[in-house]
Amino acid sequence: MRIDIISLFPEFVALCAGFGVVGRAQERGLLSIHGWNPRDYAQGNYRRVDDRPFGGGPGMVMLIDPLRAAIDAARAADPIRGRVVYLSPQGRALTQARVRELAGQSRIILLCGRYEGVDERLLAAEVDEELSIGDYVLSGGELAAAVVVDAVARLQEGVLNDAGSAVQDSFEGDGLLDCPHYTRPVEHALGAVPEVLLSGNHAEIARWRRRQALLRTRERRPDLLAAAGLSAEEARWLEAQDGTGDEAG
Ligand SMILES: C[S@@+](CC[C@H](N)C(=O)[O-])C[C@H]1O[C@@H](n2cnc3c(N)ncnc32)[C@H](O)[C@@H]1O
Repeated sequence: MRIDIISLFPEFVALCAGFGVVGRAQERGLLSIHGWNPRDYAQGNYRRVDDRPFGGGPGMVMLIDPLRAAIDAARAADPIRGRVVYLSPQGRALTQARVRELAGQSRIILLCGRYEGVDERLLAAEVDEELSIGDYVLSGGELAAAVVVDAVARLQEGVLNDAGSAVQDSFEGDGLLDCPHYTRPVEHALGAVPEVLLSGNHAEIARWRRRQALLRTRERRPDLLAAAGLSAEEARWLEAQDGTGDEAG
């Protein structure tokens, strides 16, 4: 997969993408990241990329032309067209389902805003989709772009050492939260590992994990349960639990 980043600080996103899973994805040739700085396409001695907003008010607005030239340059670098995604607090919320869809594309072009944002005409003409990483305002789209890159990279086939690990994550499959995880030592001053996990009984372990996922989803994100498509038996079992987070049996 190819990801192009249009940003005044493309090296910042590249730095975020240089470590861990995303770094490995690049090393393995499964992901390539290319930065395009609108300032390189700006005119004049000062290479301006922003100007004051019409109508007055605080802050600056990113100019159309340097952004457009950077997008054109990115497009010209590869025949795969790729969706242009503007990172914006006003965009559709980024979910794991949307991450999966984006991860399935051969190319995306991420546009990062700064200041008060981007001239609306550029967004109307060039942007296919706006994505928000949450209901708060960042000073620039770079961190949001790094979030998209990370989430999308780990879903590329061959990136995670164990392909099954992404499938059991929160929000995957039927959208429940993940179950709790434990590792060595079995006994610790902070508590013992639940016995079922040591039993070697795979069916029992799977059932325990599923039930834990149900319990913690109900406790932490009850909004996710409605869409999870629980079986009648699971729904009855969950109903019978007392809400303490411990299984009633
Ligand atoms: C200071 S913000 C501009 C906010 C804009 N005036 C508004 O209120 O909608 C500057 C840039 O940061 C990025 N940004 C800020 N918050 C974001 C969020 N929650 N998700 C994605 N991008 C965000 C966008 O690219 C935006 O153009």
